[in-house]
Amino acid sequence: MSEDTFIEKKYGLRENPFVDQIAKELWLSTWVNRQEQLAKWQAVISNLRKPRKNYIVLIIGDYGEGKSQSLFKVVSEAKQHLEIYPTFFTFRGEQKPKAPGLEFMFRIFKSIDFKKLAKAHSRKIEAAIEAIPDDFDEVKTILRKCCFAEPDLQNKALYFLQGEINPNKTELKEMGIIRKIDDIDVAKEYLAGILKVLKGLGFQTLLLAVDEVEYLFSLVPRPQQSIYVALLRGLYDFPVGMMKDAGEIARVTIFLAVSSDGYRRLNEMEKAEYAIGGPTRPLFDRIDVQTNLGVLTKEAAEELITKRLHFDRVKGRYANQPLIPFDQTFIAFIWELTKGNPRHIINKCSHVLDAGIEMGISQLTRITAEKLLRDRREL
Ligand SMILES: Nc1ncnc2c1ncn2[C@@H]1O[C@H](COP(=O)(O)OP(=O)(O)OP(=O)(O)O)[C@@H](O)[C@H]1O
Ligand SMILES: [Mg+2]
Repeated sequence: MSEDTFIEKKYGLRENPFVDQIAKELWLSTWVNRQEQLAKWQAVISNLRKPRKNYIVLIIGDYGEGKSQSLFKVVSEAKQHLEIYPTFFTFRGEQKPKAPGLEFMFRIFKSIDFKKLAKAHSRKIEAAIEAIPDDFDEVKTILRKCCFAEPDLQNKALYFLQGEINPNKTELKEMGIIRKIDDIDVAKEYLAGILKVLKGLGFQTLLLAVDEVEYLFSLVPRPQQSIYVALLRGLYDFPVGMMKDAGEIARVTIFLAVSSDGYRRLNEMEKAEYAIGGPTRPLFDRIDVQTNLGVLTKEAAEELITKRLHFDRVKGRYANQPLIPFDQTFIAFIWELTKGNPRHIINKCSHVLDAGIEMGISQLTRITAEKLLRDRREL
């Protein structure tokens, strides 16, 4: 008998519900605690529907404290409002970037689904693109192609906008433009055009949920790190400082998730810039809301364990009975062992369950959990 069918027969479930320790939209249904932080994020999000300004929100947490999951929460809250276009992407690149700030701009462009926008707003999108001022004619040309060209050219235009291809002169001509997007200022023109289109479609705000900002420090050498910081600051100030007037455009709001360690390094960077000046202080000055995650309380940990143990991943809903019954000694044991770090809680529960399911145990207690982990040499 395969393990899956065994679990299904004995416990009525197909999979250990703790096996997945990665933040996902799915796990918003087992989200616990964080009411205080959530209230702050929601206050910003509700302002974004009629924005008067851009926002930067910082989410700081240790490894596994739920930064990515928090960003999923922010995006899902933002999705409730038709006036907000939320996107999610990570700071971490696949390789060392050749053009640090530029490649971040491409990532923003990549996070916007133009094909879907064109489909969902088929009646408005043409007018929204045409409303881009003529100063930005290349942007207009490319966005038209991204939305309406025949598939080959459409994909080419999209790849170009996302920095995936490096077109030669003939290819540029085929797309109807002369300049490549090879510096930040050109990329900012594209951003302005995109924000204009979003506004035309009824979006007041482009919300960027940016994960793993700490990769800033491993991604690029020191002098380049400040390019990113300056860029974030520039996005907050956007479109101020652009040479041309983009007219009325959607606002930009950035939710940045950074590890505690990354945050410490940002502070060090700020101190190092103290005498010579630099972009970090101005970025810090622009932070509207700062939230720290921290570990879960024992009650929240219990709620998390209870929810996950009741969550039927196969059917995607809560079951009436937990996968395996548990008592308070089990909760206390896990909480002491993990000190309330969500990822560690899930991780330890996963190991206990893997072993417990294999042994066919019928209740989770401190004693069974201790024994199971000891047998696996994890205690
Ligand atoms: N408040 C919470 N309620 C329920 N589950 C949570 C909570 N916070 C985090 N989790 C779960 O804990 C696990 C780790 O969370 P997440 O991946 O968001 O942490 P992280 O801070 O982004 O970690 P890393 O620093 O490694 O990127 C995920 O499975 C997530 O669903
Ligand atoms: Mg994460």
